[in-house]
Amino acid sequence: MVMTQNLTKLVFATQNKNKLTEVKNMLEGSGIELLGIEGEFNPEETGGTFEENAFIKAYEAARITGLPALGDDSGLVVDALGGRPGVFSSRYEKTDEKRINRLLEELKDVGPGKRSAGFVCSMVIVSPEGKKLFAVTRTCRGEIAFSPSGSHGFGYDPVFYLPGKNATMAELTMKEKNSISHRGKALRKTVAWLVSGGND
Ligand code: IMP
Repeated sequence: MVMTQNLTKLVFATQNKNKLTEVKNMLEGSGIELLGIEGEFNPEETGGTFEENAFIKAYEAARITGLPALGDDSGLVVDALGGRPGVFSSRYEKTDEKRINRLLEELKDVGPGKRSAGFVCSMVIVSPEGKKLFAVTRTCRGEIAFSPSGSHGFGYDPVFYLPGKNATMAELTMKEKNSISHRGKALRKTVAWLVSGGND
């Protein structure tokens, strides 16, 4: 199937500066220009899955700008909490500190070996007409630590422990995080698709 999209200029449907920086970093040298979204942008995330929410954000950005848009949605899925906070990760509490405290409180009786979790990221590319051109979902597995550690990254990074690295996500450099993270994996797949002209 030949479906040359030739997408070299995209809008990233986010107001999260950390995410924009992470993704821009990964696109360096790819020839793909990623623009941020100007002004107020806060579409209601009414989807029941990460992919549905990524689509909602991307479509709204594509509609506003008239450019193809990349939307992402991500969150933390904790096995002992039946997958919560999941698509509600950013709405779980109002600040990162409160989100982390609530998570640790909810898991206070959950012992070592039972604290498995995954960061999940969906990315979707949507045309201004609302056509879903591409979608991918990737996961990074780890465990919820008993206390926060590290100062890099954002969100739940200080309590997301990676046994293989003997470190939390917040103790990794951005480069190390990108090489293993849910967003890094999803983005590499997205970039491969973009540079292949939609054939990968
Ligand atoms: P959204 O994808 O902007 O809707 O937000 C997802 C929420 O999940 C964020 O507010 C973070 O709290 C959390 N999250 C997503 N990705 C990461 C990550 O890489 N590190 C830490 N927290 C994350």
